[in-house]
Amino acid sequence: MSRPGFAYDFPHSSLLSVGDLNPLDVSMIFERASLHFDANRRKEPRERTLDGLAVVNLFFENSTRTLASFEMAAKRLGADVINFSAGSASISKGESLADTALNLNAMNPDVMVVRHNAAGAAAYFAKVTGAAVVNGGDGAHEHPTQALLDAFTLTRHWGDIGGKRICIIGDILHSRVARSNISLLNLLNAEVRLCGPATLLPADADRWGVTVFHDLDEALEGCDAVMALRMQKERMSGGLIPSDREFAALYGLNHARLDVASPDCLVMHPGPMNRGVEIDGALADDPERAVIMEQAEAGVAIRMAILELITGRASNQRYVDDGTGDGA
Ligand code: CP
Repeated sequence: MSRPGFAYDFPHSSLLSVGDLNPLDVSMIFERASLHFDANRRKEPRERTLDGLAVVNLFFENSTRTLASFEMAAKRLGADVINFSAGSASISKGESLADTALNLNAMNPDVMVVRHNAAGAAAYFAKVTGAAVVNGGDGAHEHPTQALLDAFTLTRHWGDIGGKRICIIGDILHSRVARSNISLLNLLNAEVRLCGPATLLPADADRWGVTVFHDLDEALEGCDAVMALRMQKERMSGGLIPSDREFAALYGLNHARLDVASPDCLVMHPGPMNRGVEIDGALADDPERAVIMEQAEAGVAIRMAILELITGRASNQRYVDDGTGDGA
């Protein structure tokens, strides 16, 4: 979906699942995001590549990072942005999801970013409307832009993720972040470990191309990065752990638990974070270990890249074919 004179031949007009991406797609996203990340850090204004486009953020579930970073990403690139939340949308008056989707699409937005508590909601939006849709998190299913920003953060530290050992800890069962990360890290040839109590791990997790652990010390052995997940109690139908205190004692990350990991082990968390439960506050704030704020920073750059690429607006003078055969 590239325009003449534009560089990136990105083959997707929506982003619903990490499973739709191949390594070349990911490298295009990361290359573009890298330019934006550095420019954002230097507070340089960006080329208004999304000028004239409208991005609708439709969030039926709460969000801090995803909503703010999509809005910031779109505005930095010159798009018009309209935000809807569940409370302000007419779905609260009984309108169906399909009617909401069709009515918004009738206004001809260029991209709809959808977050919903039902798995498959973003794909349903795309199917009903035929519009460009980005999945901003659908139930316990997927959160593709989160996985991309997580992997992008790791590549900024390591260059290549291939062969690195990464452990995801905690409530894997209800985590769309875990599912998208597992797909993407496998695609990038990392070694993925999962660790948590049996009640918070899907029964078929050992068929996901990962190694499953229930003992945190064993799981952390030699890890290059660890990702703590919060307990997603809003998706639990019953008590799956005895108490937060017991979970923290067995699976909570802190400096001492990382003694068995690689000396340079990076500590990640997608947020929102429950300090003292899945991660100790001192570790979360340790600038030598934690890259949690860098993940939030990368979220804007990744979402800038995604919005440009799916709309065919990613331009890069270095890659524009000017007819001389050697680029610009
Ligand atoms: N990581 C993440 O999706 O955070 P929000 O729920 O704040 O968007």
